Amino acid sequence: MSFNIRALIKARLGENLALHEAHINPAFAKVLRTIGFDKVYARGAGPYLYDREGNRYLDFLAGYGVFNLGRHHPTVRQALLDFLSEEAPTLVKMDAPLLAGLLAEELKKRLPPSLDKVYFTNSGAEGIETALKFARCATRRPRILYCDHSFHGLSYGALSITGESWFREGFEPLLPGCTPIPFNDASALEKELAKNDVAGFIIEPIQGKGVHVAPDEYLRSAAELCRKHGALFIVDEVQTGLGRSGKLFAFQYSGVEPDMVVISKALSGGYVPVGAVITRGDVHEKVFSSMDRCVVHSSTFSQGAMAMAAGLATLHVLDAENIPERARRLGDLMIAGLLDLQKRYEQIQELRGRGLMIGIEFGRPKSLTLKIGWDLIHKVSDGLFGQAIVIPLLSEHRILTQVAGKGKDVIKLLPALVISEADVSYFLECFETVLKKSHSFPGPIWEVATRLAKFALKRRE
Ligand SMILES: Cc1ncc(COP(=O)(O)O)c(C=O)c1O
Repeated sequence: MSFNIRALIKARLGENLALHEAHINPAFAKVLRTIGFDKVYARGAGPYLYDREGNRYLDFLAGYGVFNLGRHHPTVRQALLDFLSEEAPTLVKMDAPLLAGLLAEELKKRLPPSLDKVYFTNSGAEGIETALKFARCATRRPRILYCDHSFHGLSYGALSITGESWFREGFEPLLPGCTPIPFNDASALEKELAKNDVAGFIIEPIQGKGVHVAPDEYLRSAAELCRKHGALFIVDEVQTGLGRSGKLFAFQYSGVEPDMVVISKALSGGYVPVGAVITRGDVHEKVFSSMDRCVVHSSTFSQGAMAMAAGLATLHVLDAENIPERARRLGDLMIAGLLDLQKRYEQIQELRGRGLMIGIEFGRPKSLTLKIGWDLIHKVSDGLFGQAIVIPLLSEHRILTQVAGKGKDVIKLLPALVISEADVSYFLECFETVLKKSHSFPGPIWEVATRLAKFALKRRE
C-alpha cells in the first residue's frame, strides 16, 4: 500500500489530544483541555486558522512569532514547491551549498557592515548556544551577563541566561559564569563589566516575557559600555527580528551596532526550522581560526537547502511587501485603539511594545467591587486575570492569544504581520466585549478566574 499523508490526516484528525496524552505530553494536553484550548485546527492561511467545521480563528500567537508572513505565504510556498521538484543536492556536508551562501549574502545586506559572517542554526536556542560559545572563544573570558526576566531558550546554555527562573527548577546546576543584571540599568551593567572578565552581554531589544521594550538610550549605553570593557554586545532578535517590531530588526530603533545578532523563528516563513547568528568578522575568525578548527562548531542540519530556500523567499517578501512598515502601521493602529479602551476600562494598567509585539498589562482596579474580585483571585495565584481574558477571547470570539509569561497579568499580541485593518478592528471589538464582562463582578470573567483559581489550589494540594 502506498503512503498517503492526506488520507492519514483525514482518517485520524480529531485524535490529536488523545495521541498527545498517550505519547507526547499528557500535562500539556491537560492544560489545553482545562483552558478550552483543545481545538482541532484543520487548516491555516495567512493570519488565520480554521477548524474542521471551517470556523475561522484570528491567530494572535503566530506560533510564538514564527508566522510573520502568515501561514503559507504563496511566495515562500512556491519557492519550496519549486525547490522540491528540482531534486537538489542538500546536506552533502563536504561541499559549500549555494543557497546558504546566498542567504548569508542577503542577511548581511540588511545589517551593519561590521557584521560579516553568518552561522546557520536550526532554532533560536541553538543560535544562543552559538553566541555564548563564540563570545567565550573570541574573548577568552568566562562570564556572560543577561537581564532579569529575559528568555533566550531552554537548552542548557540558553537556560543559564534565561532570567525567568521557574524554567530552571529541576535542571540545575547550570552553566557557570552567567550573571543576571537588572533590565534597563546601565550602572549595574557597568559594575559587572568593570570586573574585566565578561565575554558578552546579551539582551532582547523587547523582552518577550512581559513585553518590556529596552529603551534606545539604554541599548546605546550598553553597547558603548561593552565596547569600553572589551565584552561583546549580543542582541537576541529571535522574536523581535524580521519585521515584528516595525523595523527589520528591533535594535535599529536605537542605532546601535551589535557585535552579534541572533535570529530564528520567522526566517523560513514558518516552514522549516532555521536560525542564524551574524557576527563581527574578527569574532568569527577567532572561533574558526585555522583549517583544523573549521568545523569546531557545526551541526548536521545547519545550512539545509529547504531552510535556506525558504529564508531567501522570506527576505524577498519582507522587502517586496514592505512588511516591517506594515507592522508599524498596524501596531500603531492597535495601540491607538487600546489607548482608547484604557480610558474606559480601569483594569488596563499599561500598554507596551513596538510594531506588532504588544503587551497589555492588567492591574488592580480602583472600584471596590472589582478590587474584591481581583484580590480574591490574586490570593491564589498571579496571572489568573490575564488567563481569564485569554480564555473567552478564544472560546467566544475565536481569537488565539497568550499570557506573556507565567504569573503575569499581561496578555501578549503577536499576530502575523499581514493582518488587515479589519482584523485590528475585530480584535478591539471582541476585546472590549470581554473587558465589559470583566467590569461586572460577579460576572462571567470572574467565574472563569475563579475556576482557574480552584484548579490552581487543587494542583497545589
Ligand atoms: C528571544 C528568544 N530567544 C530565544 C528563543 C529560543 O528559541 P527556540 O524556541 O527556537 O529555541 C526564543 C523562543 O521563544 C525567544 O523568544
